[in-house]
Amino acid sequence: MATNVRIAPSILSADFTALGKAVQMVERGGADLIHVDVMDGRFVPNVTIGIPIVAALKRAATVPLDVHLMIVEPERHLESFIEAGASMVSVHIETSQHVHRTLSSIRALGATAGVAINPGTPVSTLEAIADQLDYLVVMSVNPGHVGQAFIPQSTSKVHAARHLLDKAGNRAPIEVDGGITTENAASLVGAGAEILVAASAIYGDANPTDATTRLRNAALKGTFASEANIK
Ligand code: DX5
Ligand code: ZN
Repeated sequence: MATNVRIAPSILSADFTALGKAVQMVERGGADLIHVDVMDGRFVPNVTIGIPIVAALKRAATVPLDVHLMIVEPERHLESFIEAGASMVSVHIETSQHVHRTLSSIRALGATAGVAINPGTPVSTLEAIADQLDYLVVMSVNPGHVGQAFIPQSTSKVHAARHLLDKAGNRAPIEVDGGITTENAASLVGAGAEILVAASAIYGDANPTDATTRLRNAALKGTFASEANIK
């Protein structure tokens, strides 16, 4: 059961001609993190942003930057992203030959170390590092684009991941990323998600400030629901 919920708007759907304003809009709506989707056109089909944008976002944001590395060989770029301002860095287990070492490197550089798993990657893949990660990103779409449909099996995957982390004695939060809306937020929180990423549901809305607040309010219904189950 998730006890607290953080909202992480993904700037990938924001207006890139006014990124500072885009960050202020969601912070006004209560955003807890800014999710930054880095894509290299190799691990995923799309190419998006890199170090200069992370550095610019760091100047604009007052909340931490949650940098999601959808790139091959992420270990080669950790120092640059953390120096540019990443507070949280997640790497895909599918790209990491030495994910145990990569997590230690992220922490040694002063950031919080996350692992992301694709929809096709089973939770069991995490067994050997379940006590090592600071947060887990469960992809609820196949990474690479905004505006994709939520994969319904993701909810039970969040529940299974929570069970695996708890079994390893690790209270690391679970972040869900992809196709998140006010429709599925509560059930994800009820399954154990504590960080919700949204790009199109927030920046695709006419009012990203209100959309951020609405997403949190929808998510919190999941907390009450899961608490009720416990009583
Ligand atoms: C997908 C990215 C997601 C994406 C979310 O590859 O990791 O963060 O930007 O976009 P929406 O919320 O529109 O699915
Ligand atoms: Zn992402």
